[in-house]
Amino acid sequence: MALKQHKDDQIKYDQQVDNSRSYVLPFIEETKQVGKGVNVMEIGCGEGGVLVPFMESGAYCVGVDLNPLRIDLANKFFADDVAAGKIEFLYKNVYDEDFLQRFKGFFDVIILKDAIEHIPNQEKFIPYLKNFLKEGGQIFFGFPPWYMPFGGHQQICEHKIGMMPWYHILPKPIYKSIVKAIGEPEGVVNELMDIYDTQITIERFEKIVRSSGMKFINKRHFLINPIYKYKFGLKPRKQLGIISAIPFVRNFLTTCVYYTIG
Ligand SMILES: C[S@@+](CC[C@H](N)C(=O)[O-])C[C@H]1O[C@@H](n2cnc3c(N)ncnc32)[C@H](O)[C@@H]1O
Repeated sequence: MALKQHKDDQIKYDQQVDNSRSYVLPFIEETKQVGKGVNVMEIGCGEGGVLVPFMESGAYCVGVDLNPLRIDLANKFFADDVAAGKIEFLYKNVYDEDFLQRFKGFFDVIILKDAIEHIPNQEKFIPYLKNFLKEGGQIFFGFPPWYMPFGGHQQICEHKIGMMPWYHILPKPIYKSIVKAIGEPEGVVNELMDIYDTQITIERFEKIVRSSGMKFINKRHFLINPIYKYKFGLKPRKQLGIISAIPFVRNFLTTCVYYTIG
């Protein structure tokens, strides 16, 4: 019962492109002009579709991912653009010394779209990103807060029951035994447990940013995540200001947040 984009790479790629063109690039351009002479990196780029409108604007783009299969797909989707030197895709850990040396102070924009919730030790990772920023550079984050109905990414489950809202916030052994009992494959169980361990909330994210010494440049909370248009046919909706202002409770009702920091 996993959604069709979890099985079809072309659908996933097309959705990444459309969502980025309609929401990610416009949000970033509210505070940072993107175009020729601008360097953009996406960490956790997957198939690379998010980078399409950035590359089309004339920006030089780098996509990085820890999944070699997804980097292979990106290289296929972008074969002509890679050959033309407009974009490159790297199967690389951003903590690697050679990566740091090559890209120190290089990027005007860094994108983490639906990626930070997959990355462990965000207290170390988010401040580390400053190494790659040019003076005046900005980092975009878009992620689903942990306590939102599907904050455990349970939509990746094969079984319909696995897609129930909110059961991901049960104690880990109970949550794990449910996903195993409904017969989810080992890869799905492991991915769900990895996300369980990283659980990023709005409050923890904002605390990490504040203690990293970076500033909030722009922020938008959504009641309905723009990507739900493709997943569930729902119209994107911003969160009500009054809900967004209530710490902790807002996490349960906010399916996605966008931030730029720098
Ligand atoms: C949900 S996908 C998001 C893909 C794409 N950004 C999008 O919005 O559709 C998360 C991606 O992050 C990658 N990822 C997880 N941890 C990573 C890390 N430490 N460094 C780079 N990529 C990572 C995963 O391999 C996966 O491709």
